[in-house]
Amino acid sequence: MSKTTLSVRDYVAADCDATIAIFLAAIREVASRDYTPDEIEAWAQVEDRNAWATRRASRPTFVAEWEGVPIGFSDLEADGHLDMMFVHPAYQGVGAASLLFAKVEDEARKQGLGRIFTEASLTARPFFERRGFTVIARQSVEKRGQRLTNVRMEKYL
Ligand SMILES: CC(C)(COP(=O)(O)OP(=O)(O)OC[C@H]1O[C@@H](n2cnc3c(N)ncnc32)[C@H](O)[C@@H]1OP(=O)(O)O)[C@@H](O)C(=O)NCCC(=O)NCCS
Repeated sequence: MSKTTLSVRDYVAADCDATIAIFLAAIREVASRDYTPDEIEAWAQVEDRNAWATRRASRPTFVAEWEGVPIGFSDLEADGHLDMMFVHPAYQGVGAASLLFAKVEDEARKQGLGRIFTEASLTARPFFERRGFTVIARQSVEKRGQRLTNVRMEKYL
């Protein structure tokens, strides 16, 4: 059966390792243009695979696929918080994040949420701005001894 080149589906437990790999690669190879090597090292860590799996399964999580292979993922928490938006470095710019965000927005509307909010990396900020988010504030967050700048953003639906 042929698969549409780019598609989005719900996360399943078997996606755990693929989503970890996408997360790590996206930070190390893409977000690294906006953060120092020490900041990247502090951010690109997944110490507890089980905790990751539990968190992914605890909320709607969506996986983007390219010809059936996972290349990105995003999620939506019950209060409208979008925690994760990561796309594999080899598949930047093919529309995966856009398709994932359309799915997240759909889900938020279905749930009757009035707002989606996130802490965007400096790398992802332009993406979220083009998707209708506005900046609430820049902030500095502590991760494993490093202080990383990100941007609190929101979109009213
Ligand atoms: C931010 C990120 C999720 C965007 O993912 P993506 O799948 O490449 O985004 P899309 O393909 O849907 O493109 C979104 C827009 O950015 C543009 N774009 C994305 N990558 C591009 C590239 N390499 N070259 C040119 N344009 C690019 C697209 O043209 C598109 O423009 P539009 O809004 O005018 O349509 C991705 O860059 C990423 O994983 N970054 C690193 C991890 C990170 O910081 N995540 C966010 C944590 S909050």
